[in-house]
Parts: sequence; structure tokens; C-alpha cells
Amino acid sequence: MSYQHQHQHVEQHGILSRMVGVGDMVLLDPLTEENFLDNLQKRFNSDQIYTYIGSVVVSVNPYKHLSIYGSDKIEEYRGRNMYELPPHIYAVADLAYRSMKNHNRDQCVLITGESGAGKTEASKIIMQYVAAMSSKSKEVVKIKQQLLQSNPVLEAFGNAKTVRNDNSSRFGKYMDIEFDFKGDPIGGIITNYLLEKSRVVQQATGERNFHIFYQLLNGPETMLHKLKLSKDVKYNFLTDGKITDTIDDAGHFKDVLTAFNVIGFSHEEVDQVLQAIAIVLKLGNITYKGRSAMNGMEGCSVEDMKEIEELSEILGVKPDKFATTITQRTMKAREDKVTCTLSASGAAYARDALCKAIYSRLFTWLVQRINQSIQSTTKTRRKVMGVLDIYGFEVFDNNSFEQFIINYCNEKLQQIFIELTLKEEQEEYIQEGIEWIHIDYFDNEIICKLIEQPHTGILSMLDEECLRPGEATDMTFLSKLHDTCGSHTHFESRHNQEFLSDKTLPHDSFRILHYAGKVSYCVEGFLDKNNDSLYRNLSMAMYSAQHGLIGGADGLFPEGEPVIVEGADNMKRPPTTATQFKVSIAQLMKNLHSKNPNYIRCIKPNAVKRSGIITQDLVKHQVRYLGLMENVRVKRAGYAFRQKYEDCLERYKMLCPRTWPNWRGNPQDGVKEILQHVEIPEKEYTFGRTKIFIINPKTLFDLEDERQESLHDLATIMQRIWRGYVWRTRYQRMRQAQILISKNVKAYLGEKHFLALRAAAVIMQCYIRGWKARCLLRAHKELKRRTIAVTVIAAYWRGLVDRKKYRRYFRANAGGVIAKFMERLLIYLFYKKLRDGLPSTSPIDKKWPTCKYDCLKTAHNELKEMHHKWRCQVYRKSLSKERQAQLKEKLEASELFKDKKSLYWISLPAPFQGDYVSLKRQEKWQKVSAINDDNNIIFADEGFKINRADGKAVSCTIVMSDKALILLHPETFKIKYRLPLADINGLSYSPYTDGMTLLHITAPANGPAAKSYKGDLILNIAHSVECGTRLLRTIKSITGKNIEIKISSSSSLASKSGDLSVQFIENSSGEITGPVVKKVKKSFQVTVPKKQIPNGVKTSSNNHKAAQNNGHENAEDETAAL
Ligand SMILES: Nc1ncnc2c1ncn2[C@@H]1O[C@H](COP(=O)(O)OP(=O)(O)OP(=O)(O)O)[C@@H](O)[C@H]1O
Ligand SMILES: [Mg+2]
Repeated sequence: MSYQHQHQHVEQHGILSRMVGVGDMVLLDPLTEENFLDNLQKRFNSDQIYTYIGSVVVSVNPYKHLSIYGSDKIEEYRGRNMYELPPHIYAVADLAYRSMKNHNRDQCVLITGESGAGKTEASKIIMQYVAAMSSKSKEVVKIKQQLLQSNPVLEAFGNAKTVRNDNSSRFGKYMDIEFDFKGDPIGGIITNYLLEKSRVVQQATGERNFHIFYQLLNGPETMLHKLKLSKDVKYNFLTDGKITDTIDDAGHFKDVLTAFNVIGFSHEEVDQVLQAIAIVLKLGNITYKGRSAMNGMEGCSVEDMKEIEELSEILGVKPDKFATTITQRTMKAREDKVTCTLSASGAAYARDALCKAIYSRLFTWLVQRINQSIQSTTKTRRKVMGVLDIYGFEVFDNNSFEQFIINYCNEKLQQIFIELTLKEEQEEYIQEGIEWIHIDYFDNEIICKLIEQPHTGILSMLDEECLRPGEATDMTFLSKLHDTCGSHTHFESRHNQEFLSDKTLPHDSFRILHYAGKVSYCVEGFLDKNNDSLYRNLSMAMYSAQHGLIGGADGLFPEGEPVIVEGADNMKRPPTTATQFKVSIAQLMKNLHSKNPNYIRCIKPNAVKRSGIITQDLVKHQVRYLGLMENVRVKRAGYAFRQKYEDCLERYKMLCPRTWPNWRGNPQDGVKEILQHVEIPEKEYTFGRTKIFIINPKTLFDLEDERQESLHDLATIMQRIWRGYVWRTRYQRMRQAQILISKNVKAYLGEKHFLALRAAAVIMQCYIRGWKARCLLRAHKELKRRTIAVTVIAAYWRGLVDRKKYRRYFRANAGGVIAKFMERLLIYLFYKKLRDGLPSTSPIDKKWPTCKYDCLKTAHNELKEMHHKWRCQVYRKSLSKERQAQLKEKLEASELFKDKKSLYWISLPAPFQGDYVSLKRQEKWQKVSAINDDNNIIFADEGFKINRADGKAVSCTIVMSDKALILLHPETFKIKYRLPLADINGLSYSPYTDGMTLLHITAPANGPAAKSYKGDLILNIAHSVECGTRLLRTIKSITGKNIEIKISSSSSLASKSGDLSVQFIENSSGEITGPVVKKVKKSFQVTVPKKQIPNGVKTSSNNHKAAQNNGHENAEDETAAL
């Protein structure tokens, strides 16, 4: 055929010529099964593990690392045609990616093959390619990392070592990677299919539990300690798998923890997930001790409570309650709740069911949590590439419900392959009226129907048996199967006559002839696993657990909520496992049908998982059941490419000027025009009813190349036009800008020039005007000078003339006359000035005009004196008699005390009153005064008499009449002492502010007076200045003599017992307020405060000074006036 021919052509000239065997099975000549296998083997032996069948990749697991992956290789395959480079998964990935990007079609990559054939690895290679293709922006890199890192997590929890594969997927996975219009991944969604959870509690010989259990136990000691796990403990759930293995569990665990972090799991979430794993492991180590209950029923109890306590702590439940819960079962019988105890085996069964439930729900939670992180948040239109990697077809020694489900799933995948590559393609040729010789193939639809057909299919039988009332067991199910499917060509059981004696088929098993081989399934556990029920009390216990992941309404056991358990809804049974699976597989099939499929068909080279070994029979078997030969045959006979006329026209219309930009006629004719224009030979294509069929992929690639070129040319034209437009508009804008700028610059420069000219003109004007003004000024000045000169000359001249004329009048007595005149003038001016500057008439006004003339100085002073005397006289005349008398007294006091005693200044401002105690009004006094005719009171005041004996002060009223000095009792006015004034011969005072008055008395020579004489008197009189002045005056008026006044700080006092000295001491400490008298032996010490205010003299320390000044000046002047 031409397709084959074309490839040979490519092979001779292209890279394929360096290949071992043929890279595309379509090129095999002759096409026999032997050649096919031979080609595979040859290529496998030289590490060329990928071979094409058209665009399908056949991959043989090398079981060793090959250096055909990595970023360099990805770059090599990027955007290249499939046939330019050796076959590779990258080429298929690139084809799918480009088809998605360029044709806007959602893609799916279906990876099929039996367990261990390399499906999971292939899916990872696809993802690696997609991740390397797109942009390196921060968000894209993040989402790509998350998508890639979902693999280690899901593999750790969902993969396990089986006899067929060390990393066997025990769940189905379909991952939709979403892209934006640029082809950058923006998110993804993972759908998981039924996890083989029976593995959690039991594994076949040589197999292991899920990787995560071993990984965790190989983790850091601190982590194990926290989870209450230990490497030294033997865990029952891991009995058949050793903790250590050839697998690097510790390394993988680190990868898983990193992956958790990259995906976005919080530390808390990771801890909770690992706790759930620890809970499962620890639950597995709980053992039960059987016992007989009182009612004869079997019961049991937990053997080791320590394990329960540790478990309860992690789980967040009460240990006692939990221990009871896991040995009981609660059932709902009509309206009542019945709780019964379980036997030891029953409790172990319930425990296993709980472990399986925890693990499988944890797995589903993990998938959902990963989806949460990787789901796209943008609302833009997106394109999708789905990658399907499910558990491969598998046959074990003992196959159960899980294998049945897995193999059913593989049947369905084979079906979709058959449908899309063999069936639909051939049917399409017939529909499109293309000449076609039908190629036979085995259609496994019959097996799918045997399993899934409603009512009669095996899954329906199973559901029926689970749901029907009455005693239903696995064996009743088997016999039911026999009744319904016994005659089916792909179903075999011991009930069938044909296999009655077939020892290879046990009595409790049935056998199905799958597309990939016969598998016998043991029915034991089918009903149970299909029901998948968990005791209510266990669900409730898990619901109530204080564990972030397991407990609560958002936890793994929401059905355990008491309301739900009690409620009516609970009566509804959840769909069985088989139904759930059937529904989800149907959905998957629908989804795959809506996308453009790409195939990777994996082949397992040997059963020993070793590299370099290829077992012919094993490979032949796989080639046969995968229908690869048929695939090649259809490809060889068929057309590489087909497309609807409308789509083809739309895509390639730019290749022909007649169809570009629009073709108005029939689309088929348009396509014809294009193909003729690009000169594709007619034998290369055929016209169907609605589609064009192209035989050779090379033709398509050529068309695509031409399209790219045309697009390039179109882009160049568009670019040219666009650039022209852009530059034109830019030029126009620049021109406009230039005009505007030059206009503004010209205007600016013109203005500047004008301003400079104007400034120059102004300056010149200024100069000229200045010059003119100066000339004028000069002329005026000259004129003025001349005028003055003329005037002066005239004055001199007139003076000369006048002097000559009047000289004779001045000659006689002129000097004397002038001198007299001048003298009179001076005197006149002196008096005039004196009159104008006369001071006020106040005698204390010190002002007097100054005199400039030395000759009048004497007159000036005399006039001053006269003026002062005159105004004093005026002042005196203005005073009343009393005031004159008062001032006279003050004058006397001044003569006595001024500048001698400090008290004088204090007494000065106040006028002398004489009677300070209003004595005349006192009736008592009037009686007393009558005795000695002392009515004429000159002075009366409060005071103290100082005892000569001890210096103590005795209060008394001191009265001076014109005859005597009398000391009265201050209240009774009884005369204490009466001293005739004539007896006083002297007075002594201190120079300070005190009122101490020493009265020196002439001692009587004899007589009674001599007897009563005691000595001189010491009085403390408030107004002692006034008292002293009046005393002196009165004594003078009586005796005509001036008695002596002594003012000194030391004095003496005559007494009968001899003279006493008196010392006055001034104290400025402020501690005392009045004079303090102290008698020490024969002397008095009188301490006087510096600022003492004597009794009766009311003045403050402030106006003391003022009094000193004003009082002094006033008194001085008044005195002077007197
Ligand atoms: N391209 C490859 N290069 C190197 N080794 C490979 C390749 N493909 C598969 N293997 C090896 O084969 C093992 C099994 O492959 P993989 O897990 O992909 O099988 P599978 O088809 O997914 O099986 P299952 O159905 O059990 O999940 C891998 O662990 C790996 O060691
Ligand atoms: Mg796998």
C-alpha cells in the first residue's frame, strides 16, 4: 500500500534508517505474527522499547533505566513529526498536546496493559512531557509541581508490591490536566476508582501491604515515638510482608513528605494522615479472648488493654468505651436498637472491616484534598488532557472480588480501544462509501455484557443476591450465576456438565474467559465485599472520636452521626460496591468517548520482573489479546487521516488563493481546489461522503508544513501592514509634535529678542534723559551761583557803602552803650529763663533752673535760697496751729534721735498722739488722777516695766502728766509707781529699733522718798521716741533744764544695790520678734531683733524702708519749712 511505501521512503532517507527492525509495525513485510514478535524482540534487545502502530505506541517494559528521557529528549521531540524521530511516548504526548492546542480538541491518553506492563511509568512520562512543554511562569511552575507531586503521595497510599509488580497500582486513576488557551496547565482533577482495600488486613504470600505502612515504619524515630509505633513491634497487618525490602521505603517516605508539602498539605493534616495509618496498624494488633456469656452466647474481650489505651489517645476516644464498642455489634431491629456481644472471630472481622473502611476513606479523602489544591481557579475556557492509568489485568493463584472488578475494568478499556480503532474506523469507511475489505477481530463486548448486563449480568446477580431477603451466601450466589450464565461461552463453573471433573476449577469458583485469558474467581467474600457494610456502633464510635480527620461531621465517618443512625434515612441501603463501580466506569467511558484518544499499549516482557528477558509466549499472548495484529492490519489497509470537508477547508484555505479568504461553493469542491493547488497526487486521497480521507501521514504533514508557511507569510503581511500603520501614525504624531515645538520655540525666541530690544531702548532713553537733566541742572546751578555771588557782592557793596555812611555815628561811647545793652540783655534773658523755669511752691521740690552765665552764679544761688525760704514761709502759713505744734515736736524728736536710733525712722511717719490708751475717758483714771492732780496728760501708752531684780517684764500703762511719770496697773488703773518728772535726770536708749527706755533718777538724799528709792527705771514703751521727746520738753518746762539723753549699745543702771550694766545686742536671725531681757549677775542683756516692730507702731517691713525714705524726706523738708 502507499502508506507503507511512504514510510519506507521516510525510512530510507530519515532517521528511521538507523533503527533496529521497523519503528512502525505498519511497515512489516510480510505482516505475520512471527515477524511482529520478532521485530518487538529485536528492538527490545537493543533497548528500543517503543514501536508504533500508526499513532499507537506499543511499549515493552525494559525493567531498567534507559537514558531516553529527560529535558533534552523532550526538546528533541517538541513540535516534530512523529516519523522524524525514533518512536517514543514523548512523540504521542507531543501529538496530543499539539492537537489540543492547535485543533482545540480535548485529549485523552489511554494506557493499557496487564499488571507490571509499565502503565503507571508511562503515565508519569506523559505528565513529565506536559510539564516540560508549557511556560515557566511562577504560577504555572507551582501547579505543575503540584500535579507531578500528586504521584508519590497516591503511589504511597494506593500502590503495593504484588507478585506481578513491585509497585502495582491497587486503584484506578484518571487525571484530567486542564490548560488555558496558551497551553499552560492551570489545574487538574483526579478521579480514583475502587481501591483494593482487602490488602489492608491481609496480603497473599510474597506480597506487601500498601507502601505507606512500611514507609512510615522506616521513618524517623521521633515520629514513630509520637505515633506510638515501633520498628521492633511485629504488626499483624504486615505479617506477610517484611518491614525491610529491596524497596527504598525510607527514601520514598521523605519524597512523600516533600510531596505533601509541595501540594499544600498543612503540618496538621500530614500528622493526622499519619495518625490514621498508625491507628490502622495498631488496630491490627488488637487481639480478642473468647468467653461464654451468661446467656450461653459467645462473647469476647480485648486481650491487651495497653494497645487500646494508646490507640484511644491517638484517636481521641475513651479507652473503656472503645474496648467495649469493638467487641459489640448494634443492630436495628424494627424500631429497637439491639446490642449483642461478638465472638472473638466476629470481633476480629468487625475490626478488619473498620480498618479497611478507615484506610479506603482516608485514600478517597487524600484524592479530594489533592484536588482541592490542584483544581484551577480561573474561569477561562479550558482544554483538557486526560491520562488514564488503572490497575492492569491480573491473574493470581487465588482471585477474588477485587480481581474480578479490576479485570472487568480492563475488559471495558479493551472495548473502548476496539470500538475506536477497529470497529468505528471500519464502519466509517463503509459509511463514507470507501472501498473496504473487512478485517476480522475479536470483539470483547460479549464478555462485558456477561459481566455488566442489567438483570442477567454477573454484577446484577451479585447485587440481587446481596439485596434479596432470606439466607444468601456466596455459594447461593454461585449457583445463581450458574443458572443465569451457565450457558455463556465465556463463563465456566463446576455446575456445568463440561467442567464437572475439571480439577483446575474449584467448587467455590467460577471462571471467565477474559479477552486476556482465563481467570477463575473464588466466590468467598463476594457478598460481603459487595455489601461493604460497617457495624453502626463502629461508625458512631469513629464519628465521636476527637480526631481532626476521622471524627465529626466533616470526618471520614459522617454516617456515624447519631441523628443519621437513628433516622429513617438510614433504612435506605447505600449502593453496593459493584453498582458504584459500574456507574463510575460507565461515566469514565462516556468521558473518554468525548475526547480524542491516544493509545499507549504496554507489554510485559517476562513474569520475573527482570530486565533483558523477553518470554516469547508471554509477549505473544499479550499481542494477541491486545489485538495488535488486527490494529496493524486496519492501519495498513486504511487511511492515516480523515476530516470533515468543512473543517479541512477552514484549516487549509490559506493554501490556495481561490479559497482564501472565503470559499463560497461546496466545501468538498473547495478541498479539491486546495489539494490540486498544492499538487498532491490524486492517489494520495479519496473523497468520502462527508470527509476527505488521506492515505499517507506524510501528505498530512506536508499540508501542515505548507499551512505553517502560509500562516507565516500571512503573519508577515499582517505584520508589514501593521508596522506600516504603526510607523505612519507615529510619523504623523512626531510631525505634529515637531510643528508644535518649533512654533513654540520661535514664539519664545521672538519674545526674548523683543524684550532685549525694549530693555536696550529704555536704558538708552534713561541715559539721554539723564544727560539732558544733568545739563539743565548744571545750567540752573550756574545761574544760582551767579545770583548768590551777585547778591553777596551787592551786600558787601551796600555794607561798604553803609559803613562808610554811618561810621561817624559809632565812634563816641559806642562801647559802653553796647556793653550796658549787652549786660541788660543778659540779665533780662537770665530772669526770663528763671521766671519760665521756676519750680513748684512745695518746700520739698528740689528742682531749680541752671545758670549758663558765670557772672550771675552768686545771684542765682541767692535767688534760689530766697525762693526756698519764701515758699517755706508760705507753707508754714498754710499749716494749722496743731499741725505746727506736731511738727515742732517731730523736729525735737529729730534733733534727739535722728541718725542715732533706728526706731526714729519707724516712728517718723505717724503723728504723735499722746494718749494711746484713751485714758481721759476712763472713769477709773479720773478718780486716780484726782489724787495727785495729774489730769493734764501729756503721754499715755501700754508698756512694760522690767524688774531690776530678775529682768522680767511686767505689763503696765505708762502715763506722763505735766508733773510726774506714773505706772498704772493696766486694768485697775491703780498707781504702781509715781515718779515726779523733776527727779528724772537722764534718759538712755539703745541705738536699735527697740522701745527700751532707761530713766535715770536722782536719788533723794533722805526722807521718805529716799526710803522708797530703788534705783533707775527700765521701761519698754511702744512709742518711746514720742515719750522721750515729750519727757524732755516737759522736764525743761518744769525745771528749765535740758536733761541728758544717751544713745548707746551699753549703758548702766543705778540701783540701790549698786550699778547694773545694760548691754543691747542686735539679733538678725529673725528668731525673736521683740526685745528679750536676760539678767546675768549684775548685768542686763537685752537682745533686740533687727527688724523689731515695737508695740503700737504699726508698720510692715516693706513700708519700713519707704517710711525711712518718705518719712525722712517729708519730715526733713517739713522741718526745713519750719
Ligand atoms: N519505561 C520504563 N523504564 C524503566 N522501568 C520501567 C518502565 N516502565 C516500567 N518499568 C518498571 O516496571 C515496573 C512496573 O511498572 P508499572 O508500575 O508502571 O506497571 P503497571 O502497568 O502500572 O502495573 P499495575 O497494573 O500493577 O499498576 C516499574 O516499577 C518499573 O520498575
Ligand atoms: Mg500501575
